[in-house]
Amino acid sequence: MSTISGGIFTSHVPGIGNAIAKGLQQDPYWKPFFDGFQPVHRWLDRVKPDVAVVFYNDHGLNFFLDAMPTFAIGAAPEYRHEDEGWGIAFPKPYPGIPELSWQIIEEVVESEFDPVMCQKMLVDHAVAVPFELAWPDAEAFPVKLVPIAINTVQHPLPSPKRCRDLGLAVGRALRAWEGDEKIVVMGTGGLSHQLEGKRAGHLNVDYDKFCMDNLVSDPDALLKHSTLEIVELAGSQGVEILNWIAARAALGDDCREISRNYHIPISNTAAATMLVETREAVSA
Ligand code: DHB
Ligand code: FE
Repeated sequence: MSTISGGIFTSHVPGIGNAIAKGLQQDPYWKPFFDGFQPVHRWLDRVKPDVAVVFYNDHGLNFFLDAMPTFAIGAAPEYRHEDEGWGIAFPKPYPGIPELSWQIIEEVVESEFDPVMCQKMLVDHAVAVPFELAWPDAEAFPVKLVPIAINTVQHPLPSPKRCRDLGLAVGRALRAWEGDEKIVVMGTGGLSHQLEGKRAGHLNVDYDKFCMDNLVSDPDALLKHSTLEIVELAGSQGVEILNWIAARAALGDDCREISRNYHIPISNTAAATMLVETREAVSA
């Protein structure tokens, strides 16, 4: 039987990718952020997951404002990243697991969601940067990817509750999967940040702390703000917390926090990393 082993929640600032490409992990600006991944590396070394189900938002690489799905699920044999204009393209392919993707699609449609189903899909920095952070020395990524894109870009955005419910449906699909893979769920983006307009540079330490403090023990607390209230609180890109909300729901009730790191700012973003382990992982 498959196991949902845990969750990795992390910011996906493209500048992190440039810092990795230039080997700046020990640089005083970057070190406090990269150090937050040490517990994640130890955990990944111990658990060795086979599959990563990643909730993220596409920022204009595979989808653009002309045609933006609220939810899209990859069902491709392989995914690739391309340069989105940040000056970096990560060359390593991301192997897919289409059978599991289809099982997830079946379950979420059964649960009355209407996702776009992508048998061809580019993944942007919101997948590539977290993968480079999680498996920095891998010649080839040791996990198969199921990418699940949530629209956090083109309003109207889905509600936090809708994203929670999507995550619950994905969790049901993972628990019903008859393979023997170990699965890590990832939620990428956030925490508070706003890149444009009069409030560019906006951060909200109190709201970020509220999210991190409740993510594991009381994730429904994050549903008390509407999507537009989250934009007010966390900034127009801080609403990427929707990816964290979905990923957390997929993990199920029984989990505990292993580590957290919060460092401001990285670029324009309050950068955060959290590692959560399920009870299933401990007893597996
Ligand atoms: C930044 C953060 C993001 O989440 C993103 O997608 C792009 C840029 C930033 O802080 O630079
Ligand atoms: Fe982003």
